[in-house]
Amino acid sequence: MRSYRDFVAPAELGGTREPAAGAGLGADADQMLIERFKRLLLEEVDLRELGRLEISQRRVRLERVLAHLVSREGVILSTRERASLVRRVVDESVGLGVLEPLLADPSVGEIMINGHDTIYVERFGRLQRVPSGFTNNEQLLQAIDRIVSTVNRRVDESSPMVDARIPADHRMPRGARVNVVLPPLALAGPTVTIRLFPKAYGLSELMARGSLDQVTADLLAACVRARLSLVVSGGTASGKTTMLNALSAFIPGHERIVTIEDAAELALQQDHVIQLETRPANVEGQGAVTIRDLVRNSLRMRPDRIVVGECRGGEALDMLQAMNTGHDGSLTTVHANSSEDALSRLETLASMSEVRIPFEALRDQVNTAVDIVVQLNRQADGTRRVTEVGYLTSRRQEPFSVVPLMRWEPDAPGAAPGQRGAFVRYPLPPALAQRLAERGERVPDGFGEPASPRRAGRRSTFGPSTQPIELR
Ligand SMILES: Nc1ncnc2c1ncn2[C@@H]1O[C@H](COP(=O)(O)OP(=O)(O)OP(=O)(O)O)[C@@H](O)[C@H]1O
Ligand SMILES: [Mg+2]
Repeated sequence: MRSYRDFVAPAELGGTREPAAGAGLGADADQMLIERFKRLLLEEVDLRELGRLEISQRRVRLERVLAHLVSREGVILSTRERASLVRRVVDESVGLGVLEPLLADPSVGEIMINGHDTIYVERFGRLQRVPSGFTNNEQLLQAIDRIVSTVNRRVDESSPMVDARIPADHRMPRGARVNVVLPPLALAGPTVTIRLFPKAYGLSELMARGSLDQVTADLLAACVRARLSLVVSGGTASGKTTMLNALSAFIPGHERIVTIEDAAELALQQDHVIQLETRPANVEGQGAVTIRDLVRNSLRMRPDRIVVGECRGGEALDMLQAMNTGHDGSLTTVHANSSEDALSRLETLASMSEVRIPFEALRDQVNTAVDIVVQLNRQADGTRRVTEVGYLTSRRQEPFSVVPLMRWEPDAPGAAPGQRGAFVRYPLPPALAQRLAERGERVPDGFGEPASPRRAGRRSTFGPSTQPIELR
């Protein structure tokens, strides 16, 4: 039979240090109130009945009982204070305590817990310390246990290091990769790193957020369908993975896709997708499987397309070689601040592999492999925007040359009077227009005629757009 420990363990009756938001009674008074209602809740709930409920229903039931208890005890609280008290008591009783509001916050990308009383979060690429923590390590261990037990994993003295992918559920609304290291391996106390997966936005949702315009979205979709190789480039938390995911949606359903990531964040909707994920080394430093190992292995898996979450090291060489040997249309991301930077970065990363290749040969690989660079930027107001779509025109060992297809011009007049900033589109290079046409893709109206007069009389399957550079 289940004991009440299954859902309300006494060790949790410790509480957290964060003052109940808005309760206005001071941290100690808040904590006393929370403790008092936790005790009352334990006395009141029918444990057997609660044990039969789904976890999410347990929460609803506890909230109801608690609301009743607060009224019964005659504690004078405003509506907001009351809601906050109920949430805090339930969070600490069946939830993940102080982690709950952080997990629900869409701006938090990563949560790092260095022992029970030190929590950092990563927001917009910056680390911030959270002014709250767990009361003791016991309470933190309970929360860890609740997280990893959802995937039938345990973390204890016999396995003090766990790395687990947690699918999205009511506790982890976005899904996460969770890494736990316990003492004595971690000196600061139980150390937890929770990487929250970004929400899977489609291109239309990104458009609704002002990240790009419809015509550019149509062009990128056509490029993916037409098997052009795309590199998404941007800084930390600029939305690279989100964009990669949105673009991958345009890979036709009949193709076999292999995705390779450090933490499987991509959520492709196609049926024929094989997801591969790296593995860190074990306690003895053995058994690591890197992105590079997976890229090499994927070539033996008959992929039509390879999607690599991020090129950060020598795997760039394998990725470029894959793109140059029949896996065109592959996609990846790279950490860089401009299209040109992205290409140099790929070249540098490729040189980091143990295979000694002259730099000119690496440039040749990049020039041959990459077609399009999608540059992202996180703006001061938090908006993630496509600031450039560039087409690589350099060939063989020539220095990199990228022509813009679209650029965000912050000073151009905006859509509404007084507004500034617009997506400016440029005529498509004929070679690109031709490649799209050969694959039966139409150039979206708004990119203008191909620039070269040599193409003037050429028959093509794309629309006769005569629009010059257009401001939107
Ligand atoms: N276009 C967008 N509009 C609004 N929010 C976005 C957009 N793209 C991404 N985000 C949000 O920004 C955060 C970071 O996104 P994402 O993980 O895709 O960035 P990244 O560049 O891959 O980050 P990292 O450098 O950590 O790999 C997530 O919370 C995500 O939901
Ligand atoms: Mg990413």
